[in-house]
Amino acid sequence: MSTPIGVAVIGAGMAGRAHCAGYRSAPTLFDPPLPPIRYVAVVDADEAVAQDAATRYGFERAGTDWRELLTDDSVDVVSIVVANSLHREIAEALLDAGKHVLSEKPLADTLENARAMADAAAAHPELVTGTGFVYRRQPAVAAIRDLLRAELGEVSHFNGRYWCDYARSAQTPMAWRYKGRPGTGALADIGSHLIDLAEFVVGPLSHVSGAAFTTKVTERHLAAGTTYGHAKAQLTDVTEPVENDDVATFTAHFENGAVGTFSISRIAPGHANSLAFDLFAETGATKWDMDAPAEFSVIRNLRGDGYDGYNRVLVGPDHPYLKGGVPMDFPGVSFGVGDLFGFQARAFLEQVAGIDGGLPPVASFADGVRDLTIIDAVIRSAEQNGATVELPPHHAS
Ligand SMILES: NC(=O)c1ccc[n+]([C@@H]2O[C@H](COP(=O)([O-])OP(=O)(O)OC[C@H]3O[C@@H](n4cnc5c(N)ncnc54)[C@H](O)[C@@H]3O)[C@@H](O)[C@H]2O)c1
Repeated sequence: MSTPIGVAVIGAGMAGRAHCAGYRSAPTLFDPPLPPIRYVAVVDADEAVAQDAATRYGFERAGTDWRELLTDDSVDVVSIVVANSLHREIAEALLDAGKHVLSEKPLADTLENARAMADAAAAHPELVTGTGFVYRRQPAVAAIRDLLRAELGEVSHFNGRYWCDYARSAQTPMAWRYKGRPGTGALADIGSHLIDLAEFVVGPLSHVSGAAFTTKVTERHLAAGTTYGHAKAQLTDVTEPVENDDVATFTAHFENGAVGTFSISRIAPGHANSLAFDLFAETGATKWDMDAPAEFSVIRNLRGDGYDGYNRVLVGPDHPYLKGGVPMDFPGVSFGVGDLFGFQARAFLEQVAGIDGGLPPVASFADGVRDLTIIDAVIRSAEQNGATVELPPHHAS
């Protein structure tokens, strides 16, 4: 039996639990088999939260100090799933300690810190690093990307949105998400996914313009105890100002001449988690909405004879990720965001184990820097009343 790969997760809040579950399901997915996985530790600043996650997901121990992982030789792979401002310090220390690092998106709280993380990764080419752009692994999104390259021709227009309502209520407590300058709010939290998907599906952006932000819930109450994710909590009387954007919009050009329109909100009633896009190309069009993740619509072989229209495609084992990616890989058997974390964990562990199971590698730290480069350009556009801001050329992974 080969040596186990030891896994640890730092942060057991909303997304941290998805990482724990993802590592748990990874060995059950796809072929060939992974080496044995050892579930070593879950670390969270809140001891009870760490212990609860460790118990639920079958990790050997819980801890409150991530530094204890640095000297633990049984830990090979670590997910960083805490507030964005903590990613850099933890990633640098883990890489120096010889650990493979999967960091959540956005890669850091600032472009400068993200660049430092990419430099640290480059200084350790023997270690695998990745940024958690998990929606690249939506089966419909991957299928649309393939179809676009195979037959839909040049894209003219990408119209994307990520609308959520998690911050709509002023009763949602203050949290790390609401701190930082304009552009670190909805734009960085969920717009980071939309921006990554736009480049993943269509290709590199060349410049952004017309950026505008607004903040409607301007202060929030501190929670009485620990709060994580977007959960409601008992509130104290103490309020603090919300520092960043509830809504962000901008336009962009792609290097191929297509234009993009981007609309991002965390206060959109009726849209709990609606990541969606329409895409118009030379010989067809396609659209997808995460409200109905297991289907997408497509027009192929445009004829202009009065009978063109969207076909509804149900995603199944003929499309990426589903054959071997869900326990019952039968057409019409659906999947959810939790499954994507399993695909991502599996891909990362394949990279660490040196196995080629055919999954695309996890987005790199360089991709995380690229994402923040675009976010930084959008921020500068908003600061200059919507001015055009050029982006450096990019070769997407
Ligand atoms: N890929 C996705 O779909 C997705 C979804 C949600 C969040 N995220 C990302 O995941 C990260 C975490 O977000 P979240 O929503 O899970 O946050 P969260 O607030 O729900 O959880 C963060 C956890 O970190 C713990 N923590 C705080 N300081 C710590 C420290 N020094 N050491 C260890 N633990 C500490 C907190 O106690 C809390 O339990 C962010 O970077 C966020 O952008 C990604």
